Amino acid sequence: MAHQEPSSLSDSTWNVVDKIRQSPPVDLSKPYDTSTLSGKSILITGAASGFGAAFARHWASHGANIFIGDLNDTAGEQLIAELRSSSPSQHHAYFHCDVTSWNDQVSLFKSAIAASPTQGIDCVVAGAGIVDVANSFDTPKSLDSNNEPVQPKLKVVEVNLKGVMYTTHLSLFYLPRNSTPESEKRDRHILLVSSVAGIMPLPSQTEYSASKHAVMGLFRSLRSTSYMNHGVRLNVINPYFVETPLLTPGGRVLLAGAPKGKVEDVVDAATRLVADEGIVGRALLIGPKMKVEEDDWMPSLDSPGGEEEGKRSRAVWEIYGHDYEKVETFVWRYLTMLNVLKSVYGWKKTAMEWWGIFRGGSSSQQ
Ligand SMILES: NC(=O)c1ccc[n+]([C@@H]2O[C@H](COP(=O)([O-])OP(=O)(O)OC[C@H]3O[C@@H](n4cnc5c(N)ncnc54)[C@H](O)[C@@H]3O)[C@@H](O)[C@H]2O)c1
Repeated sequence: MAHQEPSSLSDSTWNVVDKIRQSPPVDLSKPYDTSTLSGKSILITGAASGFGAAFARHWASHGANIFIGDLNDTAGEQLIAELRSSSPSQHHAYFHCDVTSWNDQVSLFKSAIAASPTQGIDCVVAGAGIVDVANSFDTPKSLDSNNEPVQPKLKVVEVNLKGVMYTTHLSLFYLPRNSTPESEKRDRHILLVSSVAGIMPLPSQTEYSASKHAVMGLFRSLRSTSYMNHGVRLNVINPYFVETPLLTPGGRVLLAGAPKGKVEDVVDAATRLVADEGIVGRALLIGPKMKVEEDDWMPSLDSPGGEEEGKRSRAVWEIYGHDYEKVETFVWRYLTMLNVLKSVYGWKKTAMEWWGIFRGGSSSQQ
C-alpha cells in the first residue's frame, strides 16, 4: 500500500500532542486557582533553602502538607517547625537525604508516604541542586601525584542529574500509588527544576550547564509518556539568575547591577504548574520583570515606577511553546521520511538486481 504523506501537521494521524495529552501553551495572563493546593502532599528535595524553602512556605500557607529531603538538617528542621506553627496542616516533616544516594531517596519517599495524611504523595519537586564554584571541569589540574591527569569529580552531575533522575524514577513508582481506590484519582505531578542554563550555554559553568541541559532532555523525553502511561503530569521551570545561597561569589560580582529574577516570580510560576491540574508537559522560564505587549519581541526591562501605558510587566515566559507541534513532529516526519527513503532504496536495490537478471548480468540472486 502506498505511503500517505500527512496533508498537514494538524492531521490527526500525526498529532503527537493528542496522543501524549500535552496541554496547550500556558496562558500566563490568566489567574490560577490555588485552592487545589489544600490537602496535597508535596515532597520537595533541596527545600531547606532557596526556591524549595519558598515553595514550602507558600504551598503550606495554602493547606498543603510539605515533606522535605535535604542535607542541611538544621535549616530543614527549623523550616518544618516554622511551617507547623504558621500553616493549616501539621503534617509537615523533614528527612535527611543525600539525593545522590539511592537508599537515601527510597527511604525519603517511604518516610514521606508514612507521614502523609493520605498515605500517598501527590507532587514531587526535584529541587536539590549545586553549582561548581571552581568550575573545575574546564580547568583541569595538570597532573596528580602519580603524574596522571586528575579525574574530575563530576559532583554537580551527581546531584543535578543523577539525583534528579533518582527522584523522577521514584516519583513514577510512588505517585501512581497515591489513589486508592483508583476511581478517586488524585492529581499526580513531577516538577523538575532546570535553569536558563538548561536552554542556553553558561560559559564558566560547563558542568552545571550540561547537567541542566540534561534535565531538559529528561523532561522532553518523559513528558511524552509520563501522563499517557502513569497519569503523572510532568512540567519544568527554568529560572534565570536569582538571589539565593546558590549564586557563587564570582556570579554575584559578574551580575552586580544587572537585573536578576525574583524568588517570588519563581514561586508564582511553580505554583501555577502545581496548582493548575490541567497543565501537562510545559516549561516556564522565569527572568527579571520586563514590560511587553502581546507578541512583542522587543521587551524593555522593568524599572521602578510601575506599568508603562499599554504594556504589562511579566517575569514568567512559556518556552518550547509549540515544540511537539513544530519540533518533535518535525522529527517524527523526518524519521518517517528516512524510513520511506530506506524502503524506496530497498525497492530500488531489488529492482536493480532483477534488472541485472533480466539483462543476463551477474547478480547476488543468481
Ligand atoms: N538561584 C538561581 O539563580 C537558580 C537559577 C536557576 C536554577 N536554579 C536551580 O534551583 C534549584 C534550587 O536552587 P536554589 O537557588 O534554591 O539554591 P540553594 O542553595 O538555596 O538550595 C539548594 C538546596 O539543595 C540542597 N542540596 C544540595 N546538595 C544536596 C544533596 N546532595 N542532597 C540533598 N540536598 C542537597 C542544599 O542543602 C540546599 O538546601 C537548583 O536545582 C538550582 O540549580 C537556581
